[in-house]
Amino acid sequence: MKILVTGGAGFIGSHTCLEMLQEGYEITVVDNLCNSKEEALIRVQAITGKPLTFHKVDLLDRQALEQVFASDSFDAVIHFAGLKAPGESVSIPLRYYQNNITGTINLLEVMAHYGVKSLVFSSSCTVYGEAKTVPIREDFPLGAINPYGRTKLMIEQILADLYTSDNSWDIALLRYFNPVGAHPSGRIGEDPQGIPNNLLPYVAQVAVGRLPELHVFGNDYPTPDGTCIRDYVHVVDLALGHLRALEKLQTHPGLVAYNLGTNRGHSVMEVIAAFEKACGHAIPHRVVERRPGDAAVSYADASKANRELGWRSEKSMDDICADMWRWQKNNPYGYS
Ligand code: NAD
Ligand code: UD1
Repeated sequence: MKILVTGGAGFIGSHTCLEMLQEGYEITVVDNLCNSKEEALIRVQAITGKPLTFHKVDLLDRQALEQVFASDSFDAVIHFAGLKAPGESVSIPLRYYQNNITGTINLLEVMAHYGVKSLVFSSSCTVYGEAKTVPIREDFPLGAINPYGRTKLMIEQILADLYTSDNSWDIALLRYFNPVGAHPSGRIGEDPQGIPNNLLPYVAQVAVGRLPELHVFGNDYPTPDGTCIRDYVHVVDLALGHLRALEKLQTHPGLVAYNLGTNRGHSVMEVIAAFEKACGHAIPHRVVERRPGDAAVSYADASKANRELGWRSEKSMDDICADMWRWQKNNPYGYS
């Protein structure tokens, strides 16, 4: 099968390309490299010993995207490309709407034109807004609390409308919880630009000495140790979820949504302890004020993905920290 992967040079995209090459898929990546490096794809090919095709193309460049579809034929598309920082999206909302929504509409129009109607879309647990209870199921009410989240929710709605208008489409919405970890080879991993927003990349940079200390955002939450609880899913497990979703699309399920998470949560303090075990030394940290907008507890009910895709997360928090540490230690400044 030939798969077009948008945003394939990014964190989750590169790990998914690696697993797909290993399972024998032919891959073409389009990415404008606004938040990634081509080096990730070079390493994916080196690790697997298999080639992929790369086009440096922006989804906003409709003509360039048309050329990619005109030059090859694809069985399905995995759509990772998008801007993803909630805080940044509050400061530059139009850029987020333009990039994520217009980019997706361009992609869908070109796909329709070329008769490619099979799509896996990178959604997020952010589409549940502030869920009232845990674990979070796919049928929970949807809502978003920042422009980034609204782009994900709007795209889900656009895809639902598209499917209503033409039910020959098959679309899997994958709602990721907290993607973390790195490939066990230590050669590809997450390479955030600037100061990381998310907990684990921050912890990893403190562990390697690139940042002085971690700020723990609040320890007065109603949780056993007072710090927030999240559902951290290893990126290799997550990548494999995309392969199972592609297989599902071949059975023509229509429009389907799945949580990709682990069914359990870890507190910030538990994450720090696991990372200290992996790197073998203390992670300097200090408790500071809560971060506005943080929910105390969030984790997935991922049983639907298990039932319908045969997917479940296999890797533990210790695997996550060991793999992230290997990547961070071997590549303290990421790909640069
Ligand atoms: P990433 O930034 O590493 O990867 C996204 C890739 O898309 C980058 O390589 C970037 O260069 C590319 N891109 C962005 N806009 C583009 C455009 N207009 N044209 C072409 N390429 C473009 O992010 P990631 O963590 O790998 O996330 C992948 C997807 O998963 C995103 O859609 C993100 O919103 C979603 N997601 C991520 C997380 C997370 O915590 N990492 C959680 C839930 C959902
Ligand atoms: C992030 C995203 C959210 C997305 C989710 C899943 C932000 C602001 N939110 O939130 O939109 O849906 O991932 O991908 O990026 N923490 C610290 N110190 C830090 C960083 C984080 O204590 O330096 C704490 C946070 O308060 C939180 C936990 O660690 O309790 C995890 O934070 P983070 O990695 O940002 O994930 P989410 O809060 O789930």
